[in-house]
Amino acid sequence: MSKTILSVRNLNKVYQDDKSVILENVNLDVEEREFLTILGPSGCGKTTLLRCIAGFEDYTGTVTTDGKVTKDPDVDRFMVFQDFNQLFPWKTVKKNIQYPLRIQGLKDKDELERIANETIASVGLKGYENYYPYQLSGGMKQRVAIAKALALKSKIILMDEPFAALDAMTRTRLQKELLNISKKTDCTFMFVTHNIQEAIILGTRILVFGDGGKILVDEKNPLAKPVSPSSEGYGEFWDRLHSALYQSDN
Ligand SMILES: Nc1ncnc2c1ncn2[C@@H]1O[C@H](COP(=O)(O)OP(=O)(O)O)[C@@H](O)[C@H]1O
Ligand SMILES: [Mg+2]
Repeated sequence: MSKTILSVRNLNKVYQDDKSVILENVNLDVEEREFLTILGPSGCGKTTLLRCIAGFEDYTGTVTTDGKVTKDPDVDRFMVFQDFNQLFPWKTVKKNIQYPLRIQGLKDKDELERIANETIASVGLKGYENYYPYQLSGGMKQRVAIAKALALKSKIILMDEPFAALDAMTRTRLQKELLNISKKTDCTFMFVTHNIQEAIILGTRILVFGDGGKILVDEKNPLAKPVSPSSEGYGEFWDRLHSALYQSDN
C-alpha cells in the first residue's frame, strides 16, 4: 500500500507587488515514490508551485509532507535547480555532499564516509569523489545535487526544468540516469518540464497545468518503462497531453 507523502490543500498564491492570483486553490496529493512530471504553458505557475512546496514563498493553504504541515524550507523537501552552479566550488564532490550533514550535527567520520560513498555510487559518480565542481559537466553537478538530497534523506526532490538548457543527446542521457536513480531510491520526484516526451519518459504520473495552476490532466502513465516514442500507445498519449497543453491557444 502506498502512502500519501505530499498533500497540497487550497493553496493560493498572490505575489505582493502584483496582486494577480498566480495559483488559485490548488489541490494535489502525491504518493510516495511517484515520479510526477508537470507540464504547463509558460507563466502558469509551475515554478511558483514548486517554490511554495519547498517553503521559499508565502501562500495561503496547507502543504503537508509525510503527515506534517510544512511551511518553511527543510531537508525533507529538496529543490534541484536548473542552474548548474548549486555546489560550493571550493569543495569536492564528497565534501559538498557531507557539508549539510555536518551542519545537521553528524560528526562520525565513518558514517560521513559511508553516506557519501553510498550516495555518490547511487547517482553513478563513483570515481569522482575528489573532483571539484569545475571539473564536472552540468549534468554531473546536478547529480551531485541529487546525491546531497539522498544523503539528507529528503522525501521529495523538486526539479524545475533541470534539463531545459541541454542539447538533445545530453538530455536523453540524463533522463536515463535520472530514471535509474529514481528506481534505486524511495524518494518522490516532482519534475517540471516543457517537453511532452520528457514528461512521458520520466513520469509515473503526468499533470498538465493551465492558468492559475488549474489541473487540466492528471493521469497515471499508461506506458510501461522504459518508454520510447515507439512504445505502443505513445502517440495517443502524447496527442492527449499535447491537446490539453495547447487547448487554451485554440
Ligand atoms: N517574484 C515574483 N514577483 C511577481 N510575480 C512573479 C514572481 N515570480 C513569478 N511571477 C509571476 O507569476 C506567474 C507564474 O510564474 P512561474 O511560476 O514562474 O510560471 P512557470 O514556471 O509556469 O512559467 C507569472 O505571471 C510570473 O510573471
Ligand atoms: Mg518556471
